[in-house]
Amino acid sequence: MMRKRDYFPLGIAFGKAFCNRTEETRILLNNITNGKHTLLMATRRYGKSSLALHAITLSKLPYVETDFYMASTEKVIEGYILNSVVDLIGKALGSVDKLINSIKKYVRNLKPKLEIGGKYLKLELVPTAESDPATNVKEALLLLERLLAENNKQAVLLMDEFQNVGVIAKGTGIEAAIRHVAQKTKYLTIVFSGSNRKLLQTMFEDENRPLYKLCWKLTLSRISASHYQSHLQKAAQEAWKEDLNPSVINKIFQLTERHPYYLNKLCDKLWMHCEKLPTISNADLLWLDILEEEKSDAIKEISALTAGQKKVLGQVAEENVTQLTDKATMITLEMASSSIVRALEGLEEKDIIEKLESSYKVINPVIRFYVTKGKVTQ
Ligand SMILES: Nc1ncnc2c1ncn2[C@@H]1O[C@H](COP(=O)(O)OP(=O)(O)OP(=O)(O)O)[C@@H](O)[C@H]1O
Ligand SMILES: [Mg+2]
Repeated sequence: MMRKRDYFPLGIAFGKAFCNRTEETRILLNNITNGKHTLLMATRRYGKSSLALHAITLSKLPYVETDFYMASTEKVIEGYILNSVVDLIGKALGSVDKLINSIKKYVRNLKPKLEIGGKYLKLELVPTAESDPATNVKEALLLLERLLAENNKQAVLLMDEFQNVGVIAKGTGIEAAIRHVAQKTKYLTIVFSGSNRKLLQTMFEDENRPLYKLCWKLTLSRISASHYQSHLQKAAQEAWKEDLNPSVINKIFQLTERHPYYLNKLCDKLWMHCEKLPTISNADLLWLDILEEEKSDAIKEISALTAGQKKVLGQVAEENVTQLTDKATMITLEMASSSIVRALEGLEEKDIIEKLESSYKVINPVIRFYVTKGKVTQ
């Protein structure tokens, strides 16, 4: 059963909450079923995890998700990957008793251990004292690939916030080990995903970095207005048995700038609070609540910027700005064009702004609100 608040989750969007992304889903699903690795890149909270899980679910293949957001050392990354490998062996191939001879054949630096826990024997891969994390990761991933091959099974590994591996491994060690395996796999498919596009781009596009040219790249932008329109009307029909007035939909788009997370947040409030079909003023009022709720986070994020970044961000936050390094802007900001360019790069790296075809855009509508407001009250 679909409850009316299931339409607009703040976390993973699945089922009816999943709006469109049909083209992206098709491409990703095709990559997955054909054993092609994918690099899925998008700004924070644009829907990477939702899309990845949507496509993987459609593929019906066994999968495991490893999230590197807390990774701090190579040893920690090693631990995550060894656990994922063990998990995926279990999910793809079932109980380990019948696999143990193969497992022994394929590992040298890792010691397979079987533990009796619950109904089944539980596998553990224990690194020997003298082996290094990169070697162990390579061995574990190759073990997984070989077991899948022996049993003619496919499986998917989703590696989220993967840029953290690059930050820690700096192009060597584990990063190289993953490449070594990824080049060879036919049964194991990896979906790399992350939000720091700058970092991911250096990892995957820099010729000196080992993941160069290994993946099909998929970038997510915002969901289009027309797709959201039918999505919202379906949810309105379900809640009020009526269509929303197009002006209300436009209001929702204008306030949230179709940022997937904020659109869901506002709609969740509308669908929860409105007994009758929502109006423009309902949307305006509930948006004010969101701005208030998010104020301290937004202000913390803005305060952490350098003076130059704040000035340039103020400029980007204005509507329809295309020129940022012209004479007039340099004079207004009292900054040289090279400093403006540096500030823009910093803001992009921090995922505060994104570059569209011919202009820059503040990614988060709440941040944009407080940046413009700050300028007015200064
Ligand atoms: N296809 C979609 N249809 C509707 N809503 C979506 C869709 N994809 C994502 N969302 C919504 O956008 C928000 C972010 O989604 P998700 O967590 O998948 O993004 P993410 O890019 O993985 O985020 P993070 O950077 O935090 O890992 C959530 O509120 C989610 O419900
Ligand atoms: Mg995610």
